[in-house]
Amino acid sequence: MYLKKLKIGNVELENNILLAPMAGVTDKPFRMITKEYGPSLVGTEMVSSKGLYYNDDKTKLLLDTENEKRPISAQIFGSDPETMGYAAKYVSKLADIVDINMGCPAPKVVKNGDGSKLLLNLSLVEEIVKAVVENSEVPVTVKMRKGWDNNNIVAVEAAKIIEKAGAEAITIHGRTREEYYLRKSGLGYNKES
Ligand SMILES: Cc1cc2nc3c(=O)[nH]c(=O)nc-3n(C[C@H](O)[C@H](O)[C@H](O)COP(=O)(O)O)c2cc1C
Repeated sequence: MYLKKLKIGNVELENNILLAPMAGVTDKPFRMITKEYGPSLVGTEMVSSKGLYYNDDKTKLLLDTENEKRPISAQIFGSDPETMGYAAKYVSKLADIVDINMGCPAPKVVKNGDGSKLLLNLSLVEEIVKAVVENSEVPVTVKMRKGWDNNNIVAVEAAKIIEKAGAEAITIHGRTREEYYLRKSGLGYNKES
């Protein structure tokens, strides 16, 4: 494997191995153990911007990074620019990078217009990234799927909008929301089932 240093905004990363954020998996103990195996960046589970806005204790607990090795990225989700801006301000005091979730396929998330559902509304994507960048004290990144379904593969168009809105890096999960976690991941059109 080819290892190289990375820079995301002003955050210097020792190598190009980053732990993918996973809800229900990348909690504090998991991050601390994983960090021992060498990734330059680990991230929290996704955290609800509404939960932070309404001062929910359980939500805030997901952001406990005390005594962890830095840098750490914290991921927030939501579809209201104001709430996302609030969450960005809060999270950027605790983490080194604020990551915006535009990939979660879970019905309970997309039914609220959050996660991968955002990829059907690119002007909202732009508003959210701008609001988060304006309110964050640290670099902002976005993690998205390649689109909602095979008729809406928007990764390139969305990436250009996101970059222009001020994000410093983008990760693409190469599946559509419709593909969930099935089939091979990739940026092309997936024909095989
Ligand atoms: C259990 C599980 C939880 C996940 N939770 C998140 C999440 O909270 N935020 C996110 O951006 N991606 C999440 N993902 C997506 C992964 O970060 C990753 O992009 C995806 O699994 C693609 O990689 P793979 O093809 O190696 O599985 C999750 C994936 C799994 C399997």
